Amino acid sequence: LTLYLPLDAAALALGADEVAAALQAEARARGLDLVLRRTGTRGMVWLEPLLEIEEDGVRMGFGPLEPADVPALFDSAFEDHPKSVGPVEQIPFFARQTRLAFARCGIVEPLDLDAYRAQGGMKGLERAMTMTPEEIVAEITASGLRGRGGAGFPTGIKWKTVLEAEGARKAVVCNADEGDSGTFADRMLIEGDPFCLIEGMAICARAVGADRGYVYMRSEYPQAIAMLDASLRVAREVGILGDHFDIEDRVGAGSYVCGEETALLNSMEGKRGIVRPKPPLPAHKGFMGRPTVVNNLITLASVPAILSEGADHYRSFGLGRSLGTVPLQIAGNVRYGGLFEAAFGMTIGELVEGVCGGTASGRPVKAVQIGGPLGAYFPRSLFDTPLGYEECDAAGGLIGHAGLVVFDDTVEMGAMARFAMEFCAVESCGTCTPCRIGAVRGMETIDRILAGDPAAPAILADLCETMRSGSLCALGGFTPYPVESALRHFPEDFGGAREAAE
Ligand code: NAI
Ligand code: SF4
Repeated sequence: LTLYLPLDAAALALGADEVAAALQAEARARGLDLVLRRTGTRGMVWLEPLLEIEEDGVRMGFGPLEPADVPALFDSAFEDHPKSVGPVEQIPFFARQTRLAFARCGIVEPLDLDAYRAQGGMKGLERAMTMTPEEIVAEITASGLRGRGGAGFPTGIKWKTVLEAEGARKAVVCNADEGDSGTFADRMLIEGDPFCLIEGMAICARAVGADRGYVYMRSEYPQAIAMLDASLRVAREVGILGDHFDIEDRVGAGSYVCGEETALLNSMEGKRGIVRPKPPLPAHKGFMGRPTVVNNLITLASVPAILSEGADHYRSFGLGRSLGTVPLQIAGNVRYGGLFEAAFGMTIGELVEGVCGGTASGRPVKAVQIGGPLGAYFPRSLFDTPLGYEECDAAGGLIGHAGLVVFDDTVEMGAMARFAMEFCAVESCGTCTPCRIGAVRGMETIDRILAGDPAAPAILADLCETMRSGSLCALGGFTPYPVESALRHFPEDFGGAREAAE
């Protein structure tokens, strides 16, 4: 009997190791031989720890499992177990996905390179090795892949810039800082399928002529750091990494702004994590002054499937200029939350109310914040907005790193707007005035609005405009998104502001 149990941080936090110990103990007591494989997660967090038992090639799921649920697994038919959820890949949340970057996550053991290859891994790199750098860049450009960190910049153009830049040495940097609230795709990918990232970075290195790669991760992700390090050792042993191209990890110390690419580069160089003005672009002058590709982890993890299946296959998914798939991450007050990789184009309502079943509290959804703490709040009236870069932009928001945080009708949007300013004030790197001072004044002004000061809304609008147009990076520049969307869509939560605004 082969059993599969996740080892990712969410499953561990929910007791996966205790369930594993109970399984081993029960099998020993019954004199049974048990093969327990520890995989990444399928991303259905409400079912974790989700045990899978393979029977005739089908994985049957049981979750959320507790140690006390273990003996019954051995006593009766699987389908009679109270925590049985049936064949895992038929659970609607899973069955409705299109998994390209996450194709192997939850299926293979993360450090089993043979299993990775058996599931189609390394085909992209093998193909890339038969192509010229220009051909690889052309393939990525043709796929329509855009930066999944949030800005949606075309990846092919970025790679082309680095390929054509002058420099004796070039670098690839994977941004896995993942500071956005409600996001966990980078973590899940590293913990569940680290070779996918290594393969994507190796393809990128071949395309741009880089000899070194760096993965910048948060110190809050200890399991991911350990998994990445272990996978790098395996990749070195078999020669995927070596003198021609090697990857190191770099661990940040928990500053949100270090997810901004130039602050990240400063942090990697051992300097204070503050934002550098652009130009020069990192593509021209990045890590240690070398031409550098800085890509989000999911961007790089999307590359192997593009090279193995071809650009046309990738661009056959999606909507408008948002092509391919996006790992959406749904968190907050939601019934079925987790990781949902799908083609761009599903509407917010379809995802949140259809796939995710609305709120965990059972109360009506009031708002969904998309794109992290700098993202806009979407009210129900905008739930027909398709999840795509231009589509979210047209609705006054952004898709960002594709994190969605759901709130029910008990949320007070005035407090959420204030929190956005507070977050900006706390995380500001201090380089520019609109952000450093504006965020503090923003908090005070929202307090005045909440206290009914009729002059305050106009001051806040002016302040938001100054932050938007005068900030050096997205932290100050995007904080107006949550503030203004909260005020626009939920004026009743701002007390006297409604009358004043009218
Ligand atoms: P940006 O628009 O300034 O740049 C996007 C990327 O394109 C950068 O890597 C930039 O260097 C590159 N680029 C621009 N022009 C180029 C050219 N001509 N040639 C080559 N490369 C070029 O956006 P930025 O400030 O890097 O990112 C902002 C985004 O970050 C926001 O949309 C926000 O959603 C997201 N974000 C994500 C977070 C996360 O946790 N993943 C946290 C905070 C913000
Ligand atoms: Fe630093 Fe804020 Fe200016 Fe960004 S907007 S450079 S975080 S002070």
